[in-house]
Amino acid sequence: MLKFGSVQLDMPFIQAPLSGYTDYPMRILARRFGCPLTFTGVMLDKIALHHKALNKRKFQPMDDEHPVGAQILGDDPGVMAQAAEKFIEVGYDLIDLNFACPAPKVLRRARGGHLMQKPSFIRETFLRTREKVNRPVFMKIRAGYDGSQAAEDDFWTICQNAAADGVDMLAIHGRSVVQKYRGKADWTRIAEVKKRFPSLIVFGSGDVLDPETALARLKNTGVDGVIVARGAVGNPWIFQEIRALWNGREKPQSPTLAEQGHLMLEHFEMICATRLEQKAVPYFRKFMAGYSKRHPERKKTLLALMACKTRKAVIAAIEERYGLC
Ligand SMILES: Cc1cc2nc3c(=O)[nH]c(=O)nc-3n(C[C@H](O)[C@H](O)[C@H](O)COP(=O)(O)O)c2cc1C
Repeated sequence: MLKFGSVQLDMPFIQAPLSGYTDYPMRILARRFGCPLTFTGVMLDKIALHHKALNKRKFQPMDDEHPVGAQILGDDPGVMAQAAEKFIEVGYDLIDLNFACPAPKVLRRARGGHLMQKPSFIRETFLRTREKVNRPVFMKIRAGYDGSQAAEDDFWTICQNAAADGVDMLAIHGRSVVQKYRGKADWTRIAEVKKRFPSLIVFGSGDVLDPETALARLKNTGVDGVIVARGAVGNPWIFQEIRALWNGREKPQSPTLAEQGHLMLEHFEMICATRLEQKAVPYFRKFMAGYSKRHPERKKTLLALMACKTRKAVIAAIEERYGLC
């Protein structure tokens, strides 16, 4: 059992923050299948300082999904700390500070992964956030900014500060910022952090795409937990599978086609409840691509689902491909 203040995790894994994916429907499905903690996708700190924006449903947690964390991004320690306070006020259980995002527009504005080059900025942001909120404060970083010696030094300074200052959890994506999502995540580096700073709670991220990999990383690297990111898109069942393996049980049977189809319909309906049809259909495509991976006729199913342009067509295609009609 991992305990972060009032937030307790009965399992050593969480669902990653995924911008453009981890809205309420994806989060609540993850929770239903045994994920002990989820996050919003990264949100710009300034959103929290505008009452009108923060009052929008999409920026607020729902009553039935706790615990849930708010992840924030910014370029000013004071503003990030203030934003953290606001997100806690609207009901999030903890804060995750993002120093990992590699998107060019984020780097250009000196936010996210850019800050891996500024250990003192990261430290100040954490300390000021800690002062403002009496909830757990996590940090998400990458394995370094790039492959240079300076980046290596900055990385270890950031980890050392995190351990010294009492960061509640350090999440490390085992790729550098310039690497973005290319290549394999470096789990040796993540394991090394835990070895050097045993008292720091370290969660590793990168290429945890199936339950067997999650288990292997938990057993072989010494990390306190793993983060499931792309592996959970259209695949909330991964959480019950990791749960079973971690408890020494057999991996549960894959859901039947009908179970998959019913869940897809439910997921789509949740999305339609807060989006106009012309937005909901394209938005759901990326989830359908994930869901279709379990279908024995994956390619045919994917093509049928991707061709749908209306809500009615999506429902009909799911019913047809998953044997619900
Ligand atoms: C589409 C997409 C969106 C992401 N959004 C976020 C985000 O908002 N915040 C964050 O910390 N990481 C984000 N990440 C990074 C993931 O949380 C994770 O660290 C990364 O994908 C590595 O894990 P994986 O190889 O298992 O997918 C995102 C990744 C992807 C692919």
